[in-house]
Amino acid sequence: MARKKKQDNWVELESQPVPGGSHLLEVDDLKMYFHTQDGVVKAVDGVSYTLDRGETLGVVGESGSGKSVTSLTIMGLIDMPPGRIEGGDVRYRGKSLLKMSEAEMQHIRGNDIAMIFQDPMTSLNPVYTIGRQLSEGMRLHLGYSKDQAMKRSIELLSMVGIPNAEQRVKDYPHEFSGGMRQRVMIAMALACDPDILIADEPTTALDVTIQAQIIELMQQMQEKNGNAIIMITHDLGVVADVADKIMVMYAGSPVEFGTAEEIFYGSMHPYTWGLIRSIPKQIEDKKQPLTPIKGNPPSLVNAPKGCPFSPRCPYAKDICHQKKPEPFYTSTGHYTKCHFANDPEFVKANAPETSRSAAARASKGGEA
Ligand SMILES: Nc1ncnc2c1ncn2[C@@H]1O[C@H](COP(=O)(O)OP(=O)(O)O)[C@@H](O)[C@H]1O
Ligand code: SF4
Ligand SMILES: [Mg+2]
Repeated sequence: MARKKKQDNWVELESQPVPGGSHLLEVDDLKMYFHTQDGVVKAVDGVSYTLDRGETLGVVGESGSGKSVTSLTIMGLIDMPPGRIEGGDVRYRGKSLLKMSEAEMQHIRGNDIAMIFQDPMTSLNPVYTIGRQLSEGMRLHLGYSKDQAMKRSIELLSMVGIPNAEQRVKDYPHEFSGGMRQRVMIAMALACDPDILIADEPTTALDVTIQAQIIELMQQMQEKNGNAIIMITHDLGVVADVADKIMVMYAGSPVEFGTAEEIFYGSMHPYTWGLIRSIPKQIEDKKQPLTPIKGNPPSLVNAPKGCPFSPRCPYAKDICHQKKPEPFYTSTGHYTKCHFANDPEFVKANAPETSRSAAARASKGGEA
C-alpha cells in the first residue's frame, strides 16, 4: 500500500500518540458566533466534550440547535467572517485545530477527520464520474497512483453496498439514486481511513433498511480500525443503540452530556426528558406516554436571558427566566445545565421512569 504523502516539516498527527492526560478530540467551551446584519447569531455557545479512539458520540437536538455548525467549526469549514471564534478551543491529539493554517487544516480534513455532509448532492461534483471523485482524495492524500486509486474506489463502492461496482464507478452522480449517492459520500469519507468520522444526519433521507445498513457499515469500520465516530441526528432513537456518549444540544449549547447509559437511564435535564418521551416505543416510560415537546426553539439572535429552554419548560420557575444555569457535574463527568439538576427530589418526581436512577446518582456523586 502506498505511503501517505508527507509535506515538508509535516508531522503526521494520526500517527502521533495522544499526549498523556488528554483525549483524541477535546472540544473545550467552544464559542463561534455569526455576525450578520440582523445581529449576532450565537450558533455555537459553549460546547464541551471529549472523544477517544473507538468511541461513538451522538450529538442530538432539534433542527437549528447548532449541531452542524459545531462540526463545521471543528473542521475549519466556516467562513470567517461572517463567523468568528469567540472563545474556547478544539484540540486533536493535543494540538489546537483553531491555531492551524488553512494548509494544515486541509491535510487534517483529507487524512484525519472526515465529514459526511447532510446533503449528498451539494457535495458531489455533477461533471465528474463517481470513480474520479473517489480517487481524487486518495491520490492527493495517500499518494496512490491512478490505477491503485481506481481499484480501491471499486472496493469501497462494493463495501458500501453498490452492486456491480466495476461498472458503476464510471457513472456520473445523476445516474445514482439519492440513497446510492449517500453511500458514495460514505465511501469517500472512509477512503482515507479517518481517525474521526463525523456523520451529519447521514441517514435522514434514507429508508429504514438502508439507514440500518449504513450505520452497520460505519460500526464495522470502527471495529476493524478503531476510528472515533460523531453521529449527528435530530432523533435520539437513532443513536440509542450505537452511541457510547451523547451530547444533547439546545439553542447552540449542550444542555446535557454523558454516557448513553447516563442519558437514557439517568438524565437530569427536562429537555432530554422531552426527547426521551418523543421516541416512539424505543424506551418504555411507564409514567408518561409518547409526548412531543411543545413550542419551538428560541432565536439564536435574541436568546432568552435565563435558561434557553425556559419558554418551553413545564418546570420553569422565576430563577429560570432570570439566570442561565451553570453546568452541574457528577463525579463521572456527566453534566447538566438546569438549576434543579442537583435536586434529587426534582429529578425523581419529574424524570421519565427510565431515568429514576439519576436521583440516586445525583445524591451520591454530585457536586456543583
Ligand atoms: N452562514 C450562516 N450565517 C448565519 N447564521 C447561520 C449560518 N449558518 C447557520 N446559521 C445559523 O446557525 C444556527 C445553527 O444551525 P445548524 O448548526 O445548521 O443547526 P442544526 O444542524 O442543529 O440543525 C441556526 O440558527 C442557523 O440559522
Ligand atoms: S433551568 Fe428551569 S427552565 Fe431550564 S431546564 Fe431547568 S427547570 Fe427548565
Ligand atoms: Mg444540521
